[in-house]
Amino acid sequence: MCGIVGFIGEGNVPRVILDGLAKLEYRGYDSAGLYLLSQQGQGYLFKEKGRIADLEKAVNHTLDSGIGIGHTRWATHGSATRENAHPHQSNSGRYTLVHNGVIENYLDLKTTYLSQVDLKSETDTEIIVALIAHFSEQGLSTKEAFKKVLDLIEGSYAIGLIDQEDPELLYAAKKKSPLLVGVGEGFNVIVSDAMATIELTSKYIEIHDGELLMIRSDQVTIEDSTGKTVQRSAYIADLDASDLDKGTYPHYMLKEMDEQAAVVRKNILSYQSQAGEFEIEAELLAKIHQADRLYILACGTSYHAGLVGKVIIEELAKIPVEVHLSSEFAYHQPLLSQHPFFIFISQSGETADSRQALVKVNELNLPSLTITNVKGSTLSRESDFTLLLNAGPEIAVASTKAYTAQLTVLAILADVLAENHDFSMAHELSMVSQAIERVFAQKEELNSWVQMGLNEVSHAFYVGRYLDYLVAMEAALKLKEISYIHTEAFASGELKHGTIALIEEGTPVIALITDEVTALNTRSNLEEVKARGAKTFVIASDSLAKEGDFTLPQVHPLLTPIVSVVACQLLAYLATVARGLDVDKPRNLAKSVTVE
Ligand code: M6R
Repeated sequence: MCGIVGFIGEGNVPRVILDGLAKLEYRGYDSAGLYLLSQQGQGYLFKEKGRIADLEKAVNHTLDSGIGIGHTRWATHGSATRENAHPHQSNSGRYTLVHNGVIENYLDLKTTYLSQVDLKSETDTEIIVALIAHFSEQGLSTKEAFKKVLDLIEGSYAIGLIDQEDPELLYAAKKKSPLLVGVGEGFNVIVSDAMATIELTSKYIEIHDGELLMIRSDQVTIEDSTGKTVQRSAYIADLDASDLDKGTYPHYMLKEMDEQAAVVRKNILSYQSQAGEFEIEAELLAKIHQADRLYILACGTSYHAGLVGKVIIEELAKIPVEVHLSSEFAYHQPLLSQHPFFIFISQSGETADSRQALVKVNELNLPSLTITNVKGSTLSRESDFTLLLNAGPEIAVASTKAYTAQLTVLAILADVLAENHDFSMAHELSMVSQAIERVFAQKEELNSWVQMGLNEVSHAFYVGRYLDYLVAMEAALKLKEISYIHTEAFASGELKHGTIALIEEGTPVIALITDEVTALNTRSNLEEVKARGAKTFVIASDSLAKEGDFTLPQVHPLLTPIVSVVACQLLAYLATVARGLDVDKPRNLAKSVTVE
């Protein structure tokens, strides 16, 4: 969702901000803007609907400036227009502001304080900057006015603010939405994700909710909500600028799918002890062992990983697990067991729905673990324990390597929690890693399915049973989110209970068959849809495959999802390329969903 880059100090301000915004493109956006202010107090505002490339053309790069703020907007309040794009300015032009988040009480604030103010956009954001100007006109200093507005607004925000009358100061604040300060030599930045400015600096300072920051080129002052100065050291962001480059791959998604085998291996190594056994912090294990039930909370792809994780943990560790969508749990809690333990799964660690659920869990003083790809992310900071996915930055909106890394880490956790079982998880996962490589190498077979018409349909179905059904859910999400083919997943056994009515001549039905116990049942279900005109495709484990199927190398039965999903990801990718669509940045979607 919205991305923020602000800069103060020595450097080519528009270049740094535009390059930073380009690196935040993956978050999803529909308009972009930039404000530059010269040392003499001359301000320049540029905004464009559409891509950063359009903004780039509109910006005068020769302007002299020592401070600036840029923004990519993912529309929430008001459509994607130039007027609604950020930065927003107060009517006098004195204050300029960018915002990521949602101000829930903006209409009330507008009615109470701004009935006489001529607002230019439909956004909740313009209310913030207009309010700052309003209180400043009433005699408050900029800092006092900003603080007062922060006290009044409800909802989520990451804000960068510039006062034209003080070109040497950049203000920032956050609540629920992500924002960091990057510390450089002779400059400082504010940024939604360290990835955007990692080429400039690897030193970052966390901002906590409710704090107000005053940032100069050589100084960062943090005040808590009571006005007390807070000392906080910078941490070193563990990111490699080359991870952000897609190299020779035509799309990030292809690169990230290809990295999956290596990510599984990396996780084997990072969780293995010298003796070759998997090991996990003793305190975390003790907390989980004290629990009578685990509650996994997550959204989207991470939720699908949670569903598979439940099966693996229950099978191996014999601990009951419930899986809930964070957005549902946050407002309607199920009846909890006596001693619950919560596991949040989130690639970004910033998903607002999951964060909201974690806030509730923390209010109840209950223990929690976050499984995330981003060290230092909000969910990681606010839960008691963290397990990292070690997947490296995932740029494509469609999550691929994060999902397989989530399953790998959940399998490792289940392995460590299990009293005993008769196989080596490390060995089985290394087989999985090899199997992923083989699936990737066979991708041309899937391309032939695409050419057989999968690129031309409007609807498609994935079916499967047990773990295959859970993978089918992720497979359907992958296909629909990037190819825009309306795809649903069904438990094969449910087809006859209603959904078979949707089958028409030529409807593609893709079956996943990796479970020995139910393979024949799913085959029968396929015959039933075929008899009604469906075009069927099968992705099956080697021992269960028949002629014409896409064959998956045999792996441990509980780990088949980590392999079968790769074929489904590739199918989604190939169908999307064949349809000529933007694989990495599908319409309407954002990578990091930082509003509820
Ligand atoms: O960062 P998170 O894992 O918390 O994100 C949750 C979902 O928004 C995410 O998994 C989404 O469904 C995927 N990008 C879809 O591919």
